[in-house]
Amino acid sequence: MASSAFITSPIAAVLSNKTAASAASQRFSLGRYNIVEFGSRRSSFFSRVKLTAPSQGFSTKKPSSGVRAVAAVEPVVAGVEKALVAPVAVVTGASRGIGKAIALALGKSGCKVLVNYSRSSKEADDVCNEIEESGGQALSFGGDVSKEDVAMAMIKTAVDTWGTVDVLVNNAGITRDTLMMRMKLSQWQEVIDLNLTGVFVCTQAAAKVMMKKKKGKIINISSVVGLIGNAGQVNYSAAKAGVIGFTKSVAREYASRNINVNAIAPGFIASDMTSKLGEDIEKKVLANIPLGRFGQPEEVAGLVEFLALNPSANYITGQVITIDGGMVMQ
Ligand SMILES: NC(=O)c1ccc[n+]([C@@H]2O[C@H](COP(=O)([O-])OP(=O)(O)OC[C@H]3O[C@@H](n4cnc5c(N)ncnc54)[C@H](OP(=O)(O)O)[C@@H]3O)[C@@H](O)[C@H]2O)c1
Repeated sequence: MASSAFITSPIAAVLSNKTAASAASQRFSLGRYNIVEFGSRRSSFFSRVKLTAPSQGFSTKKPSSGVRAVAAVEPVVAGVEKALVAPVAVVTGASRGIGKAIALALGKSGCKVLVNYSRSSKEADDVCNEIEESGGQALSFGGDVSKEDVAMAMIKTAVDTWGTVDVLVNNAGITRDTLMMRMKLSQWQEVIDLNLTGVFVCTQAAAKVMMKKKKGKIINISSVVGLIGNAGQVNYSAAKAGVIGFTKSVAREYASRNINVNAIAPGFIASDMTSKLGEDIEKKVLANIPLGRFGQPEEVAGLVEFLALNPSANYITGQVITIDGGMVMQ
């Protein structure tokens, strides 16, 4: 017989099940407990959550698009009030670097944040915990967002948990640098799949929700190399230039639905991606940056926060905003 308990105070829940999307509204695990009756509607989410011991058939295998949900359940009345005003944000590739800084900034500004990652589940959980410690709500979602089914499951998870998606930040990205003449088709394809197709599938999934509400903010993280190119990065610069064209077209399509779509083009930002550069290249790069330093992830996050949450940004759409220490002045 399953033991059960009701909780109304903040909890951390870890979900592990076969299909993230369907599981998200039904069964979460908290230590030795599974949480059932985690409703897909906001009202039941903020009602009491029933805990039961795991059933025999419960899978503990890590799913391909597994969800590790860290859900803060607030007191019923205060929770409903907050739910009406706290925007729901989905940030792809948020376990490290720029995405992590974006998730933290949005979480600390009062958003409920879905923290997507590919492999770094512990880092993603740490991001969720940091958001929760600052009084916010977060859940982590593992999965490769270049895949359409994963993108759909991710958006469904946010909707099942919090009722909607208000902000999508397409941040996940990779590099596979080499000169054009040595580039393998697989290196081209991997970068295009995540950095461009991933933006398409996530945007399409989130926009379905936003269009119904006639409200939303989509922010795509491109790069200055999508504007000016870079030797050794034909795959990456093509994908990032594609994101810019994509952003402008989608901004035109969704403007009548009150959905703002913008791109940010960072220059060199201190992260795992740029830590591989080596001292010589780093010196050359710095010589071309008028402000004489790399940017910080938090500086990009501040710009995302402005575009996503500040009412002054409501009249900005279809733009590409560079944040690069003056490297690319157009
Ligand atoms: N750093 C820069 O100087 C710079 C400049 C211009 C533009 N950008 C762009 O800014 C974005 C973030 O860059 P960053 O420097 O912060 O990168 P990073 O430190 O390498 O972090 C990449 C993030 O993307 C996630 N990720 C990788 N593959 C994924 C996949 N298939 N599905 C979902 N998530 C995946 C990683 O998750 P795991 O931890 O699980 O692997 C990680 O959270 C990228 O789009 C990048 O192109 C960066």
